[in-house]
Amino acid sequence: MHFASKNIKFAHVNFLLKVKIFSEIKQIQNFITQIKLKNQTIGFVPTMGALHQGHLSLVAQALSENNVAVVSIFVNPTQFDNAEDLKKYPRTLEADAELLQTLSKDIIVYAPSVDAIYQNKVVAQHFSFDGLEHEMEGKFRDGHFDGVGTIVKRFFEIVTPNNAYFGEKDFQQLAIIKKLVEKYSIPVKITGCKIHREASGLAMSSRNTRLKPEYKKVAPFIYKTLQSAKIKFGTKSANKVTEWVSKEFAKQQLLELEYFIIADVKTLKTVKRKSNKKNYRAFIAVYADDIRLIDNIALN
Ligand code: PAJ
Repeated sequence: MHFASKNIKFAHVNFLLKVKIFSEIKQIQNFITQIKLKNQTIGFVPTMGALHQGHLSLVAQALSENNVAVVSIFVNPTQFDNAEDLKKYPRTLEADAELLQTLSKDIIVYAPSVDAIYQNKVVAQHFSFDGLEHEMEGKFRDGHFDGVGTIVKRFFEIVTPNNAYFGEKDFQQLAIIKKLVEKYSIPVKITGCKIHREASGLAMSSRNTRLKPEYKKVAPFIYKTLQSAKIKFGTKSANKVTEWVSKEFAKQQLLELEYFIIADVKTLKTVKRKSNKKNYRAFIAVYADDIRLIDNIALN
């Protein structure tokens, strides 16, 4: 088997690493054909790399429920609405492969080039996810879910996994992927995985590595506030809790609140009046310097 990329000396790296890295569609598809011939199952974990323990928890679950785990590492240009964010997104393929090999040798990394995926048309398909795409992140990141839908659908076609794993860290994305699979009758089971946190409570994210020390120090305030909001939601209205969160963030000099929303987990629409028949979640997006952090918490 061969490994190729424009950026990394795979020939050298792969002497040391056990995980296989494919960049060509044909390579990964040949490999998948072999797996399927053996009647083995594939668990797929799509990522944009800069892997951390949060990603690894998804891969560990994929491995525990399938014979082989395929991890895609691809910084998908069509889901970025901000060119600077795309440019600065960490790209650490070599370190990612090393981290993955600490888990198992039954992991395949699929790291295609932008050209291999998009040819010369780096554009997203337009989707309707029955309104899920217009809430929260959809309001603040123009076209983001079209980009996510485009790449995940494409990867499902290439990898044809039995199971695919997505983090609740991006709860709206998880809901949208479930909708995508339903709408296009894609034969894959989607599993949502718990949010992995640093000891401070800060949700793990590839973007955390870019936080300057003073911002890293205050960032755990985001999850602390979510936990307090959860307690308050036991006795107070969604509006009152939302107001309280705004005031708390107004006191924080280094963190800028973009949104805090309490939403119905099914529709992702902001709750107007609480009902004990429904399940709610609080969602938050915060800027720490120029780094955008998101988090969420189940409220009942
Ligand atoms: P990325 O941000 O790399 O995340 C890859 C997967 O890891 C997503 O399903 C995300 O929810 C999950 N994840 C990230 N941080 C996590 C944490 N702290 N705990 C648990 N899971 C976590 O999400 C994307 O990439 C992209 O949009 C992608 C789906 C790959 C499409 O390009």
